[in-house]
Amino acid sequence: MLSVGVLYGGKSGEHDVSLCSAASVVMNLNPAKYSVVAIGIDRTGSWHVQDRPEIVAHPDFGKVLALHKKGSWLVNHAGTSRKIELIDRESGSSIALDVIFPVVHGTYCEDGTLQGLLELANVPYVGADVPGSAVGMDKDIAKRLLRDAGVPVVAWKAVFPEEWRAEKDVIVENVIAEFGFPLFVKPANAGSSVGVGKAKDRASLEEAVECAMQFDVKVLVEKAVDCREIECAVLGNRTPKASVLGEIIAHHEFYSYEAKYIDPAGATLKIPADVSEQLSDEIRAAAVRAYKALCCAGMARVDFFLEKGTNRFFANEINTLPGFTTISMYPKLWEATGLSYPALLDRLIELALERYKEKSSLKTIL
Ligand SMILES: Nc1ncnc2c1ncn2[C@@H]1O[C@H](COP(=O)(O)OP(=O)(O)O)[C@@H](O)[C@H]1O
Ligand SMILES: [Mg+2]
Repeated sequence: MLSVGVLYGGKSGEHDVSLCSAASVVMNLNPAKYSVVAIGIDRTGSWHVQDRPEIVAHPDFGKVLALHKKGSWLVNHAGTSRKIELIDRESGSSIALDVIFPVVHGTYCEDGTLQGLLELANVPYVGADVPGSAVGMDKDIAKRLLRDAGVPVVAWKAVFPEEWRAEKDVIVENVIAEFGFPLFVKPANAGSSVGVGKAKDRASLEEAVECAMQFDVKVLVEKAVDCREIECAVLGNRTPKASVLGEIIAHHEFYSYEAKYIDPAGATLKIPADVSEQLSDEIRAAAVRAYKALCCAGMARVDFFLEKGTNRFFANEINTLPGFTTISMYPKLWEATGLSYPALLDRLIELALERYKEKSSLKTIL
């Protein structure tokens, strides 16, 4: 029996989404194979080992995994031992785990920081490692690597606060001349459409940049594509496989935070996406190329824009810890490809153990 630590919550804008994904994961981990330890990370970043996983109701997100704040825990740097150890600072009692399943999204969770901690703690964990998580999180760096790998991306410009303050008018003139309206503005490092805005004129562009700058010191301004939104689930380590494609049909002006989580009728998922076999093959191949270019492992969801009229596609972004509720796109796409939700969890844990084994066999000194 493997002891699996499910990490959830987190110090990010996607805290509540994570509680919801985590509820699905703990309910679907096969009890004959795994003993589950739920480890909630509260909004300040403190870890709380739960006595047992408990599913409770949430006003916006349906069923979520409860996060009780209890005690004060330390993560032990386990040296050469295979297990990560969580130690209760008050009682001194400890829990050892074989593998960690981070079911968390966004800042300090999906961006390589948590993965760095898990590397130092010497424990296998699900999903991309430090570089894959970090580059996948930064939309500017990811786009540069995708462009280098020959994966089409939408033209963009990165804007920083000091330039913005010093030469706002020049920046505004340049992006309007280069891309025209409408434009999309977004923080380089965020998720769930937090801080994302659509600008149709100069005033709304300035407002959108100032808004996005509240969330990050690097902001992307990019050409708006009149598009369908197509997503592909990729699974594997160095020989990853792509799922069938899915389409997100947003019933708002774009796939905003409200459309994603607040409005129950905000968006529809269509699986498989209604695209020709040839186009589907091309997008799936681009998803695998993107996955490799961005140093991913375990899993990622690669999101595309398919331009209406031309059928040209562009990779928009990659999510290394995608939403994982039973109705989320990533597990749904695998289900449609022939891998059930519990079997997907098994495979992700296997991939984590395989990668750990391979890494552990490497020398760190001559
Ligand atoms: N260049 C663009 N053209 C058209 N729609 C866009 C563009 N950029 C973002 N969007 C819309 O905004 C949504 C959120 O942007 P995205 O870059 O995916 O950020 P997040 O990481 O927050 O999901 C997209 O799903 C899409 O609906
Ligand atoms: Mg997105």
